[in-house]
Parts: sequence; structure tokens; C-alpha cells
Amino acid sequence: MRSLADLDAQGKRVLVRVDFNVPLRDGKITDDTRIRAALPTIEELRARGARIVLVSHLGRPKGADAALSLRPVAERLGELTGTDVLFIADGVGESARAAVDALEPGQIALLENIRFEAGETKNDPDLAKALAELCDIYVNDAFGSAHRAHSSTEGITYHVKDAAAGLLLEREVAQLSAILADPARPLVAVLGGAKVTDKIAVIERFLEIADTVLIGGAMCFPFFAVEGHGVGASMCEAEGLEPAREALEGAASARAELVLPQDLGLAERYAADAPRRDLDGVDVPDGWMGLDIGPRSAETYSKLIAEGATIFWNGPMGVFEFEAFAAGTRAVAEAVARANGTTVVGGGDSAAALTQFGLADQVTHLSTGGGATLELLEGRTLPGVAALR
Ligand code: 3PG
Repeated sequence: MRSLADLDAQGKRVLVRVDFNVPLRDGKITDDTRIRAALPTIEELRARGARIVLVSHLGRPKGADAALSLRPVAERLGELTGTDVLFIADGVGESARAAVDALEPGQIALLENIRFEAGETKNDPDLAKALAELCDIYVNDAFGSAHRAHSSTEGITYHVKDAAAGLLLEREVAQLSAILADPARPLVAVLGGAKVTDKIAVIERFLEIADTVLIGGAMCFPFFAVEGHGVGASMCEAEGLEPAREALEGAASARAELVLPQDLGLAERYAADAPRRDLDGVDVPDGWMGLDIGPRSAETYSKLIAEGATIFWNGPMGVFEFEAFAAGTRAVAEAVARANGTTVVGGGDSAAALTQFGLADQVTHLSTGGGATLELLEGRTLPGVAALR
């Protein structure tokens, strides 16, 4: 994979695919982590006199949609870089071409949401060609979108002479691949979240390569149901039952020990002000739902995390957005932040939890990827990365 260092960028038009798919509320960016994460590549190219064209998607629009315009992102990027970012609202075409050709060395332009173009998600070669015509060099720094074979992440590479990985994409691939290749042991994986079907491939992978797999979040309940426990009114994904059964069977002969919670935090309704009742055990009574792991589980998980030499965490242990049910996720976040081992955290919810607890800067690597991070760890080839080889 070529790196930024291999490029002669001075005066060249460099198209950088970034992942500026940031959360927005009422047109305001609520978390700019992904914009900040792209700054090292942008600043490096600016310092080297490149004429920079940034391309990203935002959300999943069906055609042009003002609510998903990247204009607020151009403004935020301007604040972060201390320079005016030219916003190209017209989409890929003649006027974009003219605007890009007029860029001065070190100047930055951001194209409107590339998913407003119908061809993007179809990996349309015409769109890929049109994008390639906007640049002399292509750089992919959009790790969060590297699992998508789209015109701006994959197709474009067939139409440019020079392509390289950005600094973020390179760091993400290196940090995550190191977990799979030769991790310091014990390797502890903490996997949470609502749906076991979203995570089953990564659970199975870690059962093979890790030493300990800790499970939390509502995805515990299909496991408990299969084991014959009552789940009460807990969220228990029906499609998760079979994968959970298979994972439990596989765990018997797997390298890793599969650890499920031994106690739970319960509520009678799904609400921020619902009183919490701790249950010693996992048989949830009728009318109650599990919204967090219990204090004994939090202690056990914290201890096992502390013993890890490599720790990977993805997915919350409960509904951490509700203060009464944040304790399990907080305990895991604090244990990961305190751990002496290499700590890698992936996925939007875990990143949001770390940020909420003020711990985002206390891990070795906080991945900007959601699906991309999981697919890489499942051992799948990411088209956006493969296309750079
Ligand atoms: C993400 O947020 O995971 C990436 O930006 C990819 O977005 P997508 O799932 O809409 O392709």
C-alpha cells in the first residue's frame, strides 16, 4: 500500500476520500471526531503544497437532500484548519472541475455529499471516472467507509495513475490488523450492543483468536434464552437465538473462554427515570427488562480487562445513555482506560461512551470505523483498502 510519504504532491490536485459521516442534530454537528481524525492527512498535504479536494458521504440520502448537505462540515473544517474551505455545491461536473483547477497550493475544497450522485453506491464507473478527472492523485483516508465498494472508495482507483492511503486509514489498518496477527496475550475482547446478529461474526472470530470474550448489552439475552433462563420483557432478538446457540456450542471447543454476565440491572420500563433494581442472577422476572449488567459482572469484567495485554472493546454493556443504567458500561470504559495493555476501541457507541465518561484520550487507539472495524476484525477484505494495493 502506498503512503502519503511516497507521493510528490507539490502543486498537484489531490482528491482525498474522507469519512465525514458525522452525527447531526438540527443541522449542527454533535460530534466532530471524524473531521478531527482526518486533519493529520489534510495538514500534511497542505504543508506539501497540494491542492486538496475532499470527498465524503453523509447519511444515506436518496438523491439530493438539503438536510444531509456537507456545508456545515465545510464550516467546521474551516474552523479546525483556520482557513477558508471552498464548498463545491454543484456535484461532480464541469463547474466542479473549474473550481478545482482554480485551487491554489495548500487550498482546500469540499465537494457536496457524494451520495447525492446516484452512481456512488452502485460503484458506477462513469462517476468514478468523473471523480478521477478532478485530480492528479487519489488518497483514501476514509477508513470508516473502507468496507464499501463505491465509486469514491474503490472504483476511482482504476482511473487514477497515483493512489495512496491517508495517515488515518493506515493507522486504523495497522492497529486493527495487529490484533489479528500477533497480539500480546492475554487477548481480551469485550463485545456488547443490542443485537447478536450484528456481532456474531466478530464473536466467532474472537472465540478462535482471543483468550477471553466478555459479552454484554442486550445481546446477552439470546444467549440466556438458549440456556433456558427467563428474559422477561428484555429486548431479545428472535433471529439471534440460533447464532447464540451456535456460538455457545462453538465456545466449548474454542480457544477463548466465553463469559456472560452473572447479574443484571433491571427496570420495569425503558425510560431514563425508571428506577433500577439489581438482580443477583440472570433469570429476569416477567414484566422486568435487563438494561445493564449488574455490579458483580462489572467487577469481574473489570478484573479480566485489567489482566489483558491486548484489549478490544466494541459495544456498550447496557443503556448507558440512561444514568441509572450506565454503571456497567462506565466500569468497562474505566477498566479499558486504566489497563496497562494495548487498548483498541471500535464502533460509534463505544466511542460515544468513552467520550461521555471523559476517557476518549486514554486508550491506545479509538477507531473511527463502525462496520469497517468489525469487518476487518472478522477477517474480511475491505474493498477500499484492497483497491490501494
Ligand atoms: C459509517 O458511519 O459506518 C460509515 O460512514 C459508513 O456509512 P454507511 O454504513 O452509510 O455506508
